[in-house]
Amino acid sequence: MAADFEAAFGKPPELIVRAPGRVNLIGEHTDYNGGFVLPMAISQATFIAARPRLDRRLHVSAVLLQRWATVDLDRLEHNSEEPWANYLIGVARELEIAGHPLRGADMIVTSSLPLGAGLSSSASLEMAVLKLFETMGGFELDDDEAAQLGRRVENDFIGVSTGIMDQLIIRVAREGHALFLDCQDLSREHVPLSFPRTAFVIMDTGVKREVAASKYNERVAQCRQALQDMNAILGRTAQTLRAFTAKELEVCRPSMSDLIYRRARHVITENARTQTASGMMKSGDATAMGMLMNASHESLATDYEVTGPSLDAMVRIAHTLEGCFGARMTGGGFGGCVVSLVEAAKVAAFSNTLLERYASETGNIGDALISTPSAGAGVVLKGAIS
Ligand code: GLA
Repeated sequence: MAADFEAAFGKPPELIVRAPGRVNLIGEHTDYNGGFVLPMAISQATFIAARPRLDRRLHVSAVLLQRWATVDLDRLEHNSEEPWANYLIGVARELEIAGHPLRGADMIVTSSLPLGAGLSSSASLEMAVLKLFETMGGFELDDDEAAQLGRRVENDFIGVSTGIMDQLIIRVAREGHALFLDCQDLSREHVPLSFPRTAFVIMDTGVKREVAASKYNERVAQCRQALQDMNAILGRTAQTLRAFTAKELEVCRPSMSDLIYRRARHVITENARTQTASGMMKSGDATAMGMLMNASHESLATDYEVTGPSLDAMVRIAHTLEGCFGARMTGGGFGGCVVSLVEAAKVAAFSNTLLERYASETGNIGDALISTPSAGAGVVLKGAIS
């Protein structure tokens, strides 16, 4: 990385930061409904090497995309020619609005995360950029504030109505742990991965999440509709779907459209599954955890309708393989990755057979990611910053 930087700018970097990707174990499409999630950070990550400049410009090379962008910190506007740069511009803009000191820099950005595969490559880039600006500017945001800043970049600058899960886990993750997070008040617990002799296997379907942004926003709107309906029917003033039980939903069912009812049913049942799963993480019951993961996928496929043929095929095949306790899509859906809980001794056979059968059934080439639960965003190298 340092050598790449030197090749691009003729001098070594003074700073390298890293921010991981994440895989969500369970609790999908619950975060923007004030619900529960259980993600962990993974070893694949975004890296930025940088050297501060004396002016207020960013000169940025995106190594994997082989693209360049120049950003003027005094004109932080949307860049439609280099859309990847908007994550940097969005973070800088939020910091500028909050009155934090920003410095120009030469930067190279690279990543070991597959892009657009549902492992939060974008939130990872946001949190890496934030760590970089914090270190160069000599200030540090509180973790909740940092995650909320990233969410505002997604919501207001990029235009996707995402929740807080990705930025928060990427900011605060601890090695060897998942995070049980209550998205209503951001209270959280780092839970050790305690299933004996097992591993979480991450498989990329190879199908990029192309329609994801518009479909995602559509789901957010449908949840808002469900909230409105349930409040009206029950005479309540709840702020999120989190406030309702499955029983209350059944009371409302006759007065709701079937589609809106099913969207709400996913959210309400997924919240319950995620709370149960956090208990399973503590008791180390892999069989029970696997069953919750399977039920989560089923609900995402039939009630929430965010899976698609490739994710469904991969999960279906995973279920038939020896040593697999459970499997489900992870992240926003419409392509991306599957996470499976697998007996450690069977991981290699499981991965190989799954990839083979998946390819012959769907014609798509998948990929297995070897990963361990990693720490959150941080500084990897810091020289004397000039
Ligand atoms: C994306 C969003 C998250 C979350 C998941 C679905 O990753 O960025 O906020 O909503 O989808 O659980």
